[in-house]
Amino acid sequence: MNIDITVGQVVTGLEIGPVAHGGHFVARHEGRVIFVRHALTGELVDVRVTEVSKRFARGDVIAVHRPSPHRVTAPCPIAGRCGGCDFQHVEPGNSRELKRQVVAELLGHLAGYDFTGEVLEVQPAPLGWRRRMRYHLDDAGRAGLRGHRSEELVLLPEGGCRIADAGIAAPPADVGRPGGELLAVAGDPPLFVAPSPSGATVTEAVGEHSYRVALDGFWQAHGAAPKVLTEAVIAGLAPKPGEVAFDLFCGVGLFAGALAATGAQVWGIEGDRRAVELARANVPGANFTAGDVARRLGGLPQLADLVVLDPPRAGAGTGVLAALASRRPRAIAYVACDPAALGRDLKIAAGLGYEPVSVTAYDLFPLTHHVECVAILAPR
Ligand SMILES: C[S@@+](CC[C@H](N)C(=O)[O-])C[C@H]1O[C@@H](n2cnc3c(N)ncnc32)[C@H](O)[C@@H]1O
Repeated sequence: MNIDITVGQVVTGLEIGPVAHGGHFVARHEGRVIFVRHALTGELVDVRVTEVSKRFARGDVIAVHRPSPHRVTAPCPIAGRCGGCDFQHVEPGNSRELKRQVVAELLGHLAGYDFTGEVLEVQPAPLGWRRRMRYHLDDAGRAGLRGHRSEELVLLPEGGCRIADAGIAAPPADVGRPGGELLAVAGDPPLFVAPSPSGATVTEAVGEHSYRVALDGFWQAHGAAPKVLTEAVIAGLAPKPGEVAFDLFCGVGLFAGALAATGAQVWGIEGDRRAVELARANVPGANFTAGDVARRLGGLPQLADLVVLDPPRAGAGTGVLAALASRRPRAIAYVACDPAALGRDLKIAAGLGYEPVSVTAYDLFPLTHHVECVAILAPR
């Protein structure tokens, strides 16, 4: 059905249906699906249309006529304009319930997996959890964050970013070049530096282990994520000394370090060359290869006991999973920042003879729709 609907149009009196992947809620207007941000199931709202495609439209709530009992006042005055947090209007317990529904729907629909767990709360929450920030400065040197899917600079409110660690919630006034960017890393003292190719690093401690990380390289955003995720991976894999373990998409060697500490022989692959150099120093007993996982996997041992997979949002895909399955590992830990990619990969893995033993979901991105899952797979 081709219904006229245009960007900028206001649709009034829209009934909001279930939550969908990506922080949207599903609504229907004259036969067309509208994915609505900043809504909640059961609400009656007015929506401004922000995007129209052949199959659906997107829009943002501009007025709420019948609020959900789970709607709260956003802790941050720039919520809704800043692109960072899309669940500020949701009571945190209900936000975890919404993420549970999304994980259950995606894993059920894409992989036929019955997710019966909860999304576990992880402290600090829901404020002050982000250990790294990227701020943009306007021409007057005032710091802000980018708007949703836009280059618009939304200036920080008084008191700074609510989800950032208190030490990096706002940059000091005199730091940074007007019009430039500032990377902020929580710590004692907190760091605020302009991005540069100089290769500057910081040290992050995880239990007994410490890791050098490039200031602008990948590190888990939530302060507790490295500990929570390594514990989940090690508990799920139960490595034995001498076992061969792969850490794929290994960054600076977070999981490689945890595996090596159990006496496993570890091989890691990572696409970011600087991260690989750091991984070699962080986990001296392990073997690291720089490059694309799909291309470099052939160079690793032809048998493996254990695998950790922590791919970017696109997931691992058929080639990587088939190359892993041919090594007959007794367990695979799949760390997933996107439950849709996890669902697709679980389906592929099932076709290769690997089934999930458990899937655990963690709320490592409070006040946003994002959720992290750890799936443990074993041969059927
Ligand atoms: C989610 S991060 C995980 C990093 C690490 N496991 C950690 O927890 O710190 C994903 C990593 O995959 C790397 N990456 C993305 N695509 C890749 C590819 N095709 N081949 C190898 N590495 C890739 C990124 O550079 C990033 O370090």
